Amino acid sequence: MIAVLNGVNLNLLGRRDPTIYGSLTLSQLEGQIYDWSRDAGTSARCFQTNHEGAFVDHLHEAVGWASQGVIVNPGAWTHYSYALRDAVEFVGSNVPVVEVHLSNIMEREEFRRFSVLEEVAAHRIYGHGADGYREAIDWLVARAASATT
Ligand code: DQA
Repeated sequence: MIAVLNGVNLNLLGRRDPTIYGSLTLSQLEGQIYDWSRDAGTSARCFQTNHEGAFVDHLHEAVGWASQGVIVNPGAWTHYSYALRDAVEFVGSNVPVVEVHLSNIMEREEFRRFSVLEEVAAHRIYGHGADGYREAIDWLVARAASATT
């Protein structure tokens, strides 16, 4: 079981600069995530919020059920929220957390190059568009499999 948490402004996918974020809407992206999870032999639950506290609450709760790990795209919180960093550090001491960004945050504005999750995420994927979520699912499934063998 995998938790996929999308943060602030990601509800605007499909309408928000498609040259940067792609043309899929959030519900289309979530549909892909459910299909990819099934293909990988697991299942996912997706959640999106524009409220940082609700995002952190969902992170805390995911520890209880997301046995294979958590995928987060926190949007702009990535670049400045130490509350998010602390929550991911806590979750990461229980289950692996993968940080995903649709766009290549290293090749955009200067402020996007820094991520508060740099040191606490188990794995980071950026610039692969929606495929980044598929890679994250596959990475978590492979990691869970290698941990049990
Ligand atoms: C993003 C990158 C962030 O810098 C930005 O604030 C977002 C989306 C991405 O998926 O590329 O909202 O996380």
